[in-house]
Amino acid sequence: MHSLEEPPLVTDHDLIDAARDVQDSAHVPYSEYRVGAALETADGTVFVGCNLENANFSNSLHAEEVAVAEAVKNGHREFARLAVSSDRRDGVTPCGMCRQTLTEFCDGDLVVLCDEGDAVTEYTLDELLPNTISQETLE
Ligand code: THU
Ligand code: ZN
Repeated sequence: MHSLEEPPLVTDHDLIDAARDVQDSAHVPYSEYRVGAALETADGTVFVGCNLENANFSNSLHAEEVAVAEAVKNGHREFARLAVSSDRRDGVTPCGMCRQTLTEFCDGDLVVLCDEGDAVTEYTLDELLPNTISQETLE
């Protein structure tokens, strides 16, 4: 039983649902591949992001980057879980660039939930990107 002071419990499914819902806001005239990401902070707040493409393809923003930026600009620096979903429900995982972006702000034990429609595959960030450069490397 949770007291009223505690933040609401966010389930894996809530996080996946948030990553699905934000896909409606994606701007994907080129790939027509909608991606949503939902990042849960240590206090249970959820920040979402979607992919925003650009006619100059390399300027496109990825869903995970947008979610991280939203959370960090709102003062959050501790994260527990990330859900990622595409409209194809194909279990898409964060790309290499996004894995590195996540490494800057999240510990290796960040749980990454990937939406396969009727199943969710779970990774840790460390599994997705082991042995990469981080703040620690530069200390
Ligand atoms: N995409 C993401 O938003 N996140 C990823 O990490 C994988 C790729 C987007 C970028 C582009 O808009 C579309 O998916 C196809 O690559
Ligand atoms: Zn990416």
